[in-house]
Amino acid sequence: MYHATHFLPDYSLKAYNSFQFDVRARFFAAFQTTEMMQELLEQYQWLPYMPIHILGGGSNILFTRDVDGLVLRNELNGIELVNEDADHYYVKAMAGENWHRFVCYCIEQGYAGLENLSLIPGSVGASPMQNIGAYGVEIKDVFHSLEAWHINEKHKETFYLKDCEFGYRESVFKEKYRNRFIITSVTYRLRKQPVFQTSYGAITQELEKMGVTELSSAAIAKAVINIRRSKLPDPEELGNAGSFFKNPSISISHFERLHEAFPDIVGYPLNESKIKLAAGWLIEQCGWKGYRKGDAGCHEKQALVLVNYGNATGGDIFRLSTEIIESVYKKFGVRLDREVNLI
Ligand code: FAD
Ligand code: EPU
Repeated sequence: MYHATHFLPDYSLKAYNSFQFDVRARFFAAFQTTEMMQELLEQYQWLPYMPIHILGGGSNILFTRDVDGLVLRNELNGIELVNEDADHYYVKAMAGENWHRFVCYCIEQGYAGLENLSLIPGSVGASPMQNIGAYGVEIKDVFHSLEAWHINEKHKETFYLKDCEFGYRESVFKEKYRNRFIITSVTYRLRKQPVFQTSYGAITQELEKMGVTELSSAAIAKAVINIRRSKLPDPEELGNAGSFFKNPSISISHFERLHEAFPDIVGYPLNESKIKLAAGWLIEQCGWKGYRKGDAGCHEKQALVLVNYGNATGGDIFRLSTEIIESVYKKFGVRLDREVNLI
């Protein structure tokens, strides 16, 4: 344990990013209380100006180089039932709580709504960043509010649902307020009577396979965990950051043209004018699935996931991602956007 006022210089981030890149931070510090956080920020302002990067579990970051600044790791812990009404529990979790452990805790307590989001790596504090989502649920569906510290203005702010501008893998924190706030806690509005979301086909199939006759939050969580384990690589064993790209949306007329040329193309109506495509399908069709160059690769079971077989650098993965973007654009006229945060 080191004192809060000590920044660790030239610090390896290998254990703190799920790609397992051995990049270094010029300075590193972790905080377990909001007082420590404020003290660290106070002290840091006397150092020559260098950017501050907030780190949770490091499972959605691509470090392309050493970090010339301060990496501040959020280790705030604690979960509290702060309120309830006839239908809901309001559960506040500190930002450094591990997301999956928080989901498991809520299921055990009978707080429903997070079960589809089981096994997503990372921290509670990062969950609003990109409005994490899986198997038909996004955190915006159960979000109540969050507290965040404004780094420059040195005050606490509360954000409610409308303030966060949640979209598909988007929020105000991802771009507009990037590195401006430290999210310190998130409060979720969870149901007393669960409303099970099993519309994602694979869940129903998995529940059947498991022999489940009566739905429960725990059964859905287990089904989601089984599906995820069957196709997503465990970052402890193979460095990755989940889906590297977002699923793109295109106009209906563009989709119709593609559908004529590629009848198997996978797409889902998003609204009256847009179709969302499965980026994994597009990438696979370009021949990248299972591709490996040096230690950078495209996962053999899920083409949307780029992997580090050991000694790839963030630059290697970034270059591979650029090649993939270019080839998908050439074949389909569709531009993929990266989901991961580049540093
Ligand atoms: P980090 O990687 O540490 O940070 C991500 C970004 O958030 C950075 O820009 C960072 O600066 C910022 N940030 C982190 N904490 C804070 C804070 N307290 N305050 C302000 N900014 C902060 N995502 C999904 O949405 N759905 C999935 O199904 C999914 N599956 C995944 C599967 C695997 C195998 C992996 C490796 C990743 C997956 N992800 C998924 C991506 C990732 O798990 C999520 O984005 C997660 O929320 C990242 O949490 P983290 O704590 O690791 O964030
Ligand atoms: N597909 C292929 N080839 C592949 C991968 C996918 O053809 O190699 C096609 C299949 O037709 C499949 C479809 O794509 O049916 C969708 O695949 P999957 O169900 O695996 O979901 P995804 O679109 O690849 C998204 C999220 C995941 C989330 C799952 C489940 C994005 C960018 N990714 O993946 O989120 O867990 O759905 O909801 O939206 C993440 O964001 O990191 C992440 C893992």
